[in-house]
Amino acid sequence: DKGNFRHFMAKEIHEQPEVVGHTLAHYLDLASNQVALPDLPFDFASISRMSLSACGTAYYACLVAKYWFERWAKLPVDVDIASEFRYREIAMDPGGAALFVSQSGETADTLASLRYCREQDQHVLSVVNVRESSIARESDGVLPTLGGPEIGVASTKAFTCQLTVLACLAIAAGKARGTIGPELEAELVEALVEVPRHMAEVLRDESPYEELAHSLSKARDVLYLGRGTSYPIALEGALKLKEISYIHAEGYAAGELKHGPIALIDESVPVIVIAPRDELFDKTVSNMQEVAAREGKIVLVSDADPASAGCAVQTTLAVPTVHPFVSPLVYAVPVQLIAYYTAVFMGTDVDQPRNLAKSVTVE
Ligand code: F6R
Repeated sequence: DKGNFRHFMAKEIHEQPEVVGHTLAHYLDLASNQVALPDLPFDFASISRMSLSACGTAYYACLVAKYWFERWAKLPVDVDIASEFRYREIAMDPGGAALFVSQSGETADTLASLRYCREQDQHVLSVVNVRESSIARESDGVLPTLGGPEIGVASTKAFTCQLTVLACLAIAAGKARGTIGPELEAELVEALVEVPRHMAEVLRDESPYEELAHSLSKARDVLYLGRGTSYPIALEGALKLKEISYIHAEGYAAGELKHGPIALIDESVPVIVIAPRDELFDKTVSNMQEVAAREGKIVLVSDADPASAGCAVQTTLAVPTVHPFVSPLVYAVPVQLIAYYTAVFMGTDVDQPRNLAKSVTVE
């Protein structure tokens, strides 16, 4: 049932404040501002690395999580696309930890990677949305996302719920490893608790997205740029746009621009810059100025005043100011809306894009 929405995707985008809230309530003790995770199949204090694998959007959730685990828990993390991981014949130290992320819990390559890790004597933990799934069944520990059924083929609420669980897990890892004390834990938990409200604020006025769709729909190529945890969000934004509007889009780490992709920039190329005003903002802005100097059309997704960009910005999509820890959760919503409104404007089948299946159970 789509309720009052035109598409399941729109409904699922709008459900995010609620389902992220449910997922947070499941993994946090809101009374004490602490994480409250179930028993895990391994102790974060006694592992020296963790490997994460997944496909598509779930893989991008893992890329965000890498920044979190490394920064807040000082735990080195390897992230792999499951279809590559499974054939690499990587040697793993017995007793290590492997984490798999999947909405459906049935993705063939992710499941095969999980089985490979079991053979290598890894402790297997999974983050799944479908609890009665193969990946959940074959894991030593399961951390469910409480997103509810996701019908739209393009993943939206499953992604932000995956990020929610991974953020809670990263805090738990930091506590176990002694890198997060009670004060920092309370600060990070409070930041998470604010996420549903910030998401709702992004969703309050969608007219700038509807407006932007007019120009984006005419583009042949669209670039997305970001640094830090905004880099995986740039990748996710590009994937969403390709999937449902069929416009060619690529996400790049903003610092990579001058190593090649800048050759693509001219006045016909929209460049969507994911730039929360954090410690990396000035670096991203200088990349944005390089784009503007080549007449690329800048769409700034940020809480910053566009005047601080020091260059021509075609469109600003305003996002509330949030704690840098949670910015990928909040900035996921604008990139979903950009893709959604562009596809609606172009008249594509938003919920059932061509050539795609909701669950990829063959490799
Ligand atoms: C993108 C999308 C896909 C899935 C990928 C993994 O919008 O939906 O990229 O994220 O096929 O699927 P799951 O999470 O079910 O393993």
